[in-house]
Amino acid sequence: MSRFKSPAEPFRIKVVEPLRRSTRAEREAALKKAGYNVFGVPAEKIAIDFLTDSGTSAMSDAQWAGIMMGDESYAGARSFFRFEKAVKNLFGFTHVIPAHQGRAAERILFETILKKGDAVPNNIHFDTTRANVEVRGGVAVDLVKDEAYDPDIDLPFKGDMDTAKLDAYLAKNKGRVPVVMLTVTNNSGGGQPVSMANIKAVSAVCRRHKVPFFFDACRFAENAWFIKRREPGYARKSVASIAREMFSHADGATMSAKKDALVNIGGFIALNDDDLASRLKTTLIVGEGFPTYGGLAGRDLEAIAQGLAEVVEEAYLEYRTAHVAYLGRLLDEAGVPIFKPVGGHAVYLLADRFLPHIPRDQYPGWALSVALYREAGIRAAEIGGVMFGKLDPKTGREIFPPLEMVRLAVPRRVYTASHLEAVAEALIALHKKREAIKGFRIVEQTLHLRHFTARLEELK
Ligand code: F0G
Repeated sequence: MSRFKSPAEPFRIKVVEPLRRSTRAEREAALKKAGYNVFGVPAEKIAIDFLTDSGTSAMSDAQWAGIMMGDESYAGARSFFRFEKAVKNLFGFTHVIPAHQGRAAERILFETILKKGDAVPNNIHFDTTRANVEVRGGVAVDLVKDEAYDPDIDLPFKGDMDTAKLDAYLAKNKGRVPVVMLTVTNNSGGGQPVSMANIKAVSAVCRRHKVPFFFDACRFAENAWFIKRREPGYARKSVASIAREMFSHADGATMSAKKDALVNIGGFIALNDDDLASRLKTTLIVGEGFPTYGGLAGRDLEAIAQGLAEVVEEAYLEYRTAHVAYLGRLLDEAGVPIFKPVGGHAVYLLADRFLPHIPRDQYPGWALSVALYREAGIRAAEIGGVMFGKLDPKTGREIFPPLEMVRLAVPRRVYTASHLEAVAEALIALHKKREAIKGFRIVEQTLHLRHFTARLEELK
């Protein structure tokens, strides 16, 4: 199976954590108890956990050393200044406001700038970003190019925004759009990158309409790496300089440090507008903490500062993207349907093609995530009808998102290529007996972000 193996891991392992084994009967019982929702299964009962790449990174020795150096002063801690310098070095914005994770940064931003009835365009909103807009009575609009929804077109930058649609939208909704966002890489659309050309074009449209432009920057380093590899003119530039160029076209960014800062917790907002920064800090103080720690400990700020230096190293990014692509190729070669091309942080299975006998209203993606856990103890997240389905208020019927996928998100620096091979083997075996997999029905759900807590029942 090792024909396409990625470059050897550019690190060696200093601390190990045993993988847990479970019996099929234990997994069956865990599923039943969790209402057939893998979010509800205790991690103790999972062998390989591809639920998310968020907060699951292995930290380096230098990051752990930083943890010991954390300055826990309430105000003006040394660790804050180190963190601020590391963020400014890559993002270039004048204000850096820490928050405990990405969605806290989003909440602070939208609580401060969004009014009921406002709209926020994005290439595709991630689920928490969408929820942060919608819970405040805003409208979250996805304006990615149409190709993003075609899982077979192999394009270098399938995360690009449709700037003609954005231009038209802003012209029609004057005064209603407090910010335009661009998610790099585009998580909900297969982890696809956005090109520098598109970033510039989005920026120009926003400037023309005088609307601020922010990045949702969670996976900015993976995006910058794809620009280096795929966009003419960037091959010789450093990843750090490409990141700086990306951000130079925007007014600010929200960031979940749990992805491309290689830490287990943390986030921030970075921006240039002095007045907005001061309003954001007021919201921050009420809910998160003083502006030099924002819901984090000094040691967390140290780990982020060091992680930001490591994540732009080329040996790391070359390995990282090839590692994820290796899993994709193993599956593709064996005829397991995947979204193409493979994204930066995850391989996305096309669940509706994997399970063509299960109709959309019986949630094939969900069924696949349950089957993968039940058969092999592997956990992955559905990104499909349960996560993004909505009830049409007029007809009472469910409207499904264009893609029905299961995301195999690969934590950073955690699993080896052999683990990827084990996951591929399990999926290939499952694909061979796919006809035995059954659909699901939702029996309990919440109004927002229902996939986290919904309970389901397997159909006969
Ligand atoms: N934006 C994007 C694009 C994300 O992928 C996430 C988190 C967030 C914002 C929120 O950040 O978790 O730190 O509050 N994504 C994780 C995932 C949870 O599994 O994709 P957070």
